[in-house]
Amino acid sequence: MNRSAGMSSDPGFVKPVIVRAGDISYEALIGAGLLQRVGHETARVLRGPRCAVIADANTAGLYGEPVMHSLKEAGFAPTLVSVPPGEGAKTLEQLGRVCDAMSEARLDRTSFVVALGGGVIGDLAGFAAAVFHRGVPHVQVPTTLLAQVDSSIGGKTAVNTAAGKNLLGAVHQPALVVSDVDVLRTLPPRELRQGFAEIIKHAVIADPALLDVVATPAAIDFAAVVRRNVEIKAAVVARDDRDLLGQRAVLNFGHTIGHGIERAGDYRRFLHGEAISLGILGACEVSVRRAGFTEAERRKVFDAISGCGLPTRLPADVSSDAITAALAADKKFERGEIRFVVTPRLGAAHLTDAVTMDDLSAAIAKLR
Ligand SMILES: NC(=O)c1ccc[n+]([C@@H]2O[C@H](COP(=O)([O-])OP(=O)(O)OC[C@H]3O[C@@H](n4cnc5c(N)ncnc54)[C@H](O)[C@@H]3O)[C@@H](O)[C@H]2O)c1
Ligand SMILES: [Zn+2]
Repeated sequence: MNRSAGMSSDPGFVKPVIVRAGDISYEALIGAGLLQRVGHETARVLRGPRCAVIADANTAGLYGEPVMHSLKEAGFAPTLVSVPPGEGAKTLEQLGRVCDAMSEARLDRTSFVVALGGGVIGDLAGFAAAVFHRGVPHVQVPTTLLAQVDSSIGGKTAVNTAAGKNLLGAVHQPALVVSDVDVLRTLPPRELRQGFAEIIKHAVIADPALLDVVATPAAIDFAAVVRRNVEIKAAVVARDDRDLLGQRAVLNFGHTIGHGIERAGDYRRFLHGEAISLGILGACEVSVRRAGFTEAERRKVFDAISGCGLPTRLPADVSSDAITAALAADKKFERGEIRFVVTPRLGAAHLTDAVTMDDLSAAIAKLR
């Protein structure tokens, strides 16, 4: 079907966000009721016929059936491959299991992968697609708010190793992203909440109006909010798709201190978005000290985070020393240089090397 003309004749038409990465581009479709259209939409860009739907036990149970049905209806031959839920599935062992299951189902280099789940499944299934038969296409069907506004866009895929998070991976852009906002209804409230942290990050670095939107979480139009966030991430990815120019670094706003907090909590205590909320507040404080960010702006971000029910204070038993020790182990602290993302004003961000360890310690102390 030609979408550039006569689009209004298709009642299910959703205007895609176009994501450009290097010399390729793909559509991100965002809206309600899209799970039922995964097959039809995929058929516009991929042929198959064989494919693997990779899900975790939760997303397979909730949404495996409609997605499998939709793919079959569009003429594909899908196999459902399920892994245990949670970060623990992002391992080489699970990657091997998934690839073995794909071989067993006689997938080959003409086949493709559908990632049906949150960021864990997006990263694992995307990496499986990147390496299976030296690379097959994949479709991202993100089912958490975090995955819809962030991880499904941009092509970063990975698994964890004993040495650290996301240490093995590939940049492998999806052929299509299908975000059905209806699936957010079944997300546990804590999982929904943590997605707001990345939205607030996007607000600070690119679009302060989003802070007003998240101020009334109960009234949120998720299709509009996810779309705006995908546009923001896509604009950054378009400038630096392989993360080589330092442009994509702005997406790490709040993530330096945030990762330190995640690590200090042994990756169990805080969900990613919870640690990032504290990291965003820390980065705002550093920005007040080093980049001309105003106290009133910092307060606005604080109110947004607290209004979403996300943490604004570090628990007393998470020691500042544990956080600073974790910072020193961060990839961004190579050769003792601190490359830190600051915001000079709401809606803008850049990398700087003007930040010192003392600035970070002071910002962490202010989270008490
Ligand atoms: N590739 C990237 O650019 C990028 C960016 C940010 C984060 N990540 C990665 O994302 C991962 C975190 O993703 P996440 O927070 O989505 O976690 P997740 O994938 O583990 O999902 C969280 C929980 O929600 C459940 N779930 C998912 N969708 C559901 C739904 N619609 N209804 C009910 N339950 C549902 C899952 O089974 C899981 O138990 C991390 O591994 C992180 O490294 C990647
Ligand atoms: Zn993040």
